[in-house]
Amino acid sequence: MNDNANVSSSASSGGDLSELKAQPTRLYGRRLGKPLRQRQAELLEKELPRFSLIHPENPTIDFPKSTSEMPLWLEIGFGSGEHISKEMERGEKRYIASEFFENGICSLLGRLIETEKETGNFPNVRLWAKDARVLLDALPTASLDGVCLFFPDPWPKKRHSKRRFVHPDNLKRLARVLKPAGKWRVATDHPVYQEWIKEVMTHQNLFQIFEPATTRPEGWSPTRYEAKAFREGRECLYWEFKNKGLSEIK
Ligand SMILES: C[S@@+](CC[C@H](N)C(=O)[O-])C[C@H]1O[C@@H](n2cnc3c(N)ncnc32)[C@H](O)[C@@H]1O
Repeated sequence: MNDNANVSSSASSGGDLSELKAQPTRLYGRRLGKPLRQRQAELLEKELPRFSLIHPENPTIDFPKSTSEMPLWLEIGFGSGEHISKEMERGEKRYIASEFFENGICSLLGRLIETEKETGNFPNVRLWAKDARVLLDALPTASLDGVCLFFPDPWPKKRHSKRRFVHPDNLKRLARVLKPAGKWRVATDHPVYQEWIKEVMTHQNLFQIFEPATTRPEGWSPTRYEAKAFREGRECLYWEFKNKGLSEIK
């Protein structure tokens, strides 16, 4: 990691990387939006435990043996779960879905229960209803095939740059848990975050970087925030970084 890179200060990137502070351990953002209705409170109490059987030290044991050949992916900040729902329909991957916003967790729980009823099978999704960074620190080295981070909170003000998920501290976490050549997919419509991602990724050496796509790549599922960006006329950028699997971070 080239933490001391000589990075020029740029207003468009929402802060200077060379002055970036460590990630705060405290979470910022909403845990609760509108007060929960009774049905949502019941979902959290009765259904969340059923879908939350994650053993961070060996996450694959929570999935049926019949799915053991399927790649294991993590989605960080799934929002209301539109992307995960589409991925369930595709049926190609197992997912750990991480989110701490309770209304969003309830939305995904509702979809998981519907899928279970329709198909008669327990969906290939397990929930982590807490800060994704705690899970990243607990997972074994090289345990994930891929990670999705779609439309993360942009924190566009310079003084909030340390709260952005694309942060050198989190790059180390991601590079450790991803398998060598594991994929890290990121998308955002926010111009400040787009510049920030380019700057952070240019000044690191844990991931192989590629130019972002300007249309959603084939095989990626849509998200709610992407749909909002399209409606409001904002351009989205889509990156897929490849983990170099460097031994010094193991
Ligand atoms: C702007 S929303 C995007 C939601 C969704 N990915 C989409 O594209 O529709 C970002 C989400 O990330 C969640 N989030 C932020 N930091 C997180 C963290 N450390 N762990 C898990 N979720 C997080 C927030 O609660 C929020 O719901």
